Amino acid sequence: MVRLRTAKRAAAAAASQEAGPTAALALESVTRRYRRGGRDVNALDDVSLTLRRGRFLAVMGRSGSGKTTFLQCAAGLDRPTSGTVRIGETDLSRLGEAGLTRLRRDRIGFVFQALNLVPSLTVAENTALPLLLGGDRPEDPAVRERALAVLAAVGLADRADDSPLTLSGGQQQRVAIARALVTDPAVIFADEPTGALDPVTARDVLTLLRDAVDREGHTVVMVTHDPVAASWTDEAVFIEAGRIVNRMDRPEPDAVARTLAALGER
Ligand SMILES: Nc1ncnc2c1ncn2[C@@H]1O[C@H](COP(=O)(O)OP(=O)(O)OP(=O)(O)O)[C@@H](O)[C@H]1O
Ligand SMILES: [Mg+2]
Repeated sequence: MVRLRTAKRAAAAAASQEAGPTAALALESVTRRYRRGGRDVNALDDVSLTLRRGRFLAVMGRSGSGKTTFLQCAAGLDRPTSGTVRIGETDLSRLGEAGLTRLRRDRIGFVFQALNLVPSLTVAENTALPLLLGGDRPEDPAVRERALAVLAAVGLADRADDSPLTLSGGQQQRVAIARALVTDPAVIFADEPTGALDPVTARDVLTLLRDAVDREGHTVVMVTHDPVAASWTDEAVFIEAGRIVNRMDRPEPDAVARTLAALGER
């Protein structure tokens, strides 16, 4: 069940991206409404967005603008009130709870600011967790091999048998990225993955995500407040009061900072 992405598969994915219309992620008129204090609030309001495979997207906006709600709806962690979300060709609204759980496990990678590593498991076991939850057996040598391969990609193969408690915050974040990569997912979602890191460690983490896109053809959606982090991506969208109010290709830190400041003035 362990799936390794070979150079050949990456090439095939790139070719199919050029040939086929299927996006890695597509939202169509997605609204997520919450009932709060006796009234309805649209945390997401009629959001449409298409992301091709092999692209790195930044989702930006002020606190409370709807970024996490966007990520949760896009990743199948929350259900929109209306509208559709597709991962590849799969329409998430057509999946029941079991189907959604499977989709999240097999086809989506998650990296959060709070790392969610399991302290009683080793670094390698934490990395392999999505495979084990998918039914792979821990004693299967291919499982450890795959975990070691992605740990090597994030520069932590030598810490495979240590407890995550013995790692620094930045190293733990790299394990979280290795774990997100282990199933070779269709889309990786990251919510403020560099929020708790110093600038140098943050750069290491951004390099890893950028490499996952450039070398492996992965698709990454990253929520961030940081204009410098956004400048590592291919495209930024800006959310205000649940709506996408601006987009930017090849975002530069200064232009992103100006756009964010302008949001504050709206
Ligand atoms: N479970 C919920 N119930 C009610 N309202 C919610 C819920 N989750 C989010 N909201 C509201 O939806 C809006 C968007 O919240 P969201 O968490 O998506 O913002 P965010 O952009 O991620 O903010 P931050 O940058 O602070 O993380 C906010 O007004 C928030 O209060
Ligand atoms: Mg948030």
